[in-house]
Amino acid sequence: MKIHPAANSLDKLPPILKKNLDQNLCVCNEVHKMDIINAIINGATTVGEIKKQTYATMGSGCCTQQVERLIECLCLTETEK
Ligand code: FES
Repeated sequence: MKIHPAANSLDKLPPILKKNLDQNLCVCNEVHKMDIINAIINGATTVGEIKKQTYATMGSGCCTQQVERLIECLCLTETEK
């Protein structure tokens, strides 16, 4: 079984955000949702930083809200510890 390094962090996401991790969240630039989650876990806490690291949201920006939501979920739970 493949274990994701981010498995612990994934537990904090609402079920709807845990779906389709290996599919593109950013379809414009073909960026996997998991790549974006990993970027957040590794310290990217703004859409700008995610953009720099993964190129997500650099198409028409249509996935910006989803990226914001992921940041919100993962970062909130980090500070709540
Ligand atoms: S899906 Fe990411 S910019 Fe369009």
